[in-house]
Amino acid sequence: MKKYIIKDLLNSTELNRDVEIKGWVRTKRGSKEIAFIAVNDGSTIHNIQAVASIVLFGEDLLKKITTGSSVRIKGELVKSQGQGQNVEIQAKEIAVYGTADETYPLQKKGHTLEFLREIAHLRPRTNTFGSVLRIRHALSYAIHKYFNDHGFFYLHSPVITGADAEGAGEMFRVTTLDLKNVPINPDGTVNFKEDFFGKPAYLTVSGQLEGELAALALSKVYTFGPTFRAENSNTPRHLAEFWMIEPEMAFFDINDNMDLAEDLLKYVIAHTLDACKDDMEFLNNMYDKELLHRLHHILKAPFKRMTYTEAIDVLKSSDKKFEFKPDWGLDLQKEHENFLVDHFNKPVILTDYPKDIKAFYMKLNEDGKTVRAMDILFHYSGEIVGGSQREENYDALLKRMTEMKVAPEEMKWYLDTRRFGTAPHSGFGLGLERLLQFTTGMTNVRDVIPFPRTPKNAEF
Ligand code: 4AD
Ligand code: MG
Repeated sequence: MKKYIIKDLLNSTELNRDVEIKGWVRTKRGSKEIAFIAVNDGSTIHNIQAVASIVLFGEDLLKKITTGSSVRIKGELVKSQGQGQNVEIQAKEIAVYGTADETYPLQKKGHTLEFLREIAHLRPRTNTFGSVLRIRHALSYAIHKYFNDHGFFYLHSPVITGADAEGAGEMFRVTTLDLKNVPINPDGTVNFKEDFFGKPAYLTVSGQLEGELAALALSKVYTFGPTFRAENSNTPRHLAEFWMIEPEMAFFDINDNMDLAEDLLKYVIAHTLDACKDDMEFLNNMYDKELLHRLHHILKAPFKRMTYTEAIDVLKSSDKKFEFKPDWGLDLQKEHENFLVDHFNKPVILTDYPKDIKAFYMKLNEDGKTVRAMDILFHYSGEIVGGSQREENYDALLKRMTEMKVAPEEMKWYLDTRRFGTAPHSGFGLGLERLLQFTTGMTNVRDVIPFPRTPKNAEF
């Protein structure tokens, strides 16, 4: 028999035909004569209802059809007698693949998100996480589609690397050395020659540097992969393992870079609103009544663009009492980002940050004090994009590396691009989970990734 997915059957107008569905039972209720079994297969947030006669199937079989059990049901697709659904299945044949006993934790609705985090192996079976995972897919698909349609090539940057791309020293070490018996050099340092790679190796914090190498050959590339940060930040916006999208474009300046980022964000959000209507509506009603309005709102108008210096002036001249006083030269705090986004009632792109609070690879402005950085700030999720025009001048880059204590001898390959056919280029990093936070309205970043990794937590 042809395979059906529940999403298609629920929208079907072809009634009075035999169909077969497979999925997991969400609820079972009924009377002495009939049981109503709601089944979900993950293709949509909606369940299909199967109506089963107790005389036909017997009490014993129906007892095995518990909440959480997996079933195959064959029967006739008919117009529903009851309310709440257009169609239902008059069951003719039922098989139970696996029952679930009364210890199945998702018996009732209304678990807290905190509790669901503890059972992350089962939470995809809830409405909320089904929706989040489908939206995560839709956004990822739209990102690939956007880049493909705009002449970009997908570059697979390495996960294991020797380079600290952000120069922030927040790398997880990769080693096969025996921690109980580490080889030591005469001077007391670890002898990494004996390690797997013969040198220190880490999980990457960013694919940007490799992206730059490829952009200076293919002109427009992007990476889309997991990145890792060993920063001890226990906040609702930080993960130790997150997914980042990093486009890198030769012959793009900072303005081209901003145009691309804004266009990409609007495209992928519009795609998701269209592709995930039911899921978006569910999240809007369940968690955040402003969600859909906010998403449609940002599509309408250009983002606010201003320099870091102008933003500091706006913050300083406001009446708001900030916990951290805004001051030129300091990084913006969460409260400052929120204030700016609320103040302009739209996403804000800030440029030209002080060089001391940004990475070594950003292009120095003529003032000698600021760099051609751009950060995009969104409601709640805060900094969703971080990027810049890159320093393409060999001498200037070498000087910045030395100033910022990034060892040039270990990055000869990176400096080589500035020696051989260097070109102006730009790029940015978009955090997939921050984008998902904004798109789903989930306030904690741990609830938009299947299995979050945070300090002291790497379960599953
Ligand atoms: O601003 P970041 O650190 O920039 C880079 O890594 C550059 N190499 C990007 C580039 O120019 N190619 O990180 C970029 C984005 C942030 O704006 C944020 O959305 C996300 O990555 N991000 C995190 N998301 C979740 N948890 C964390 N710990 C994150 N750190 C950064
Ligand atoms: Mg940043």
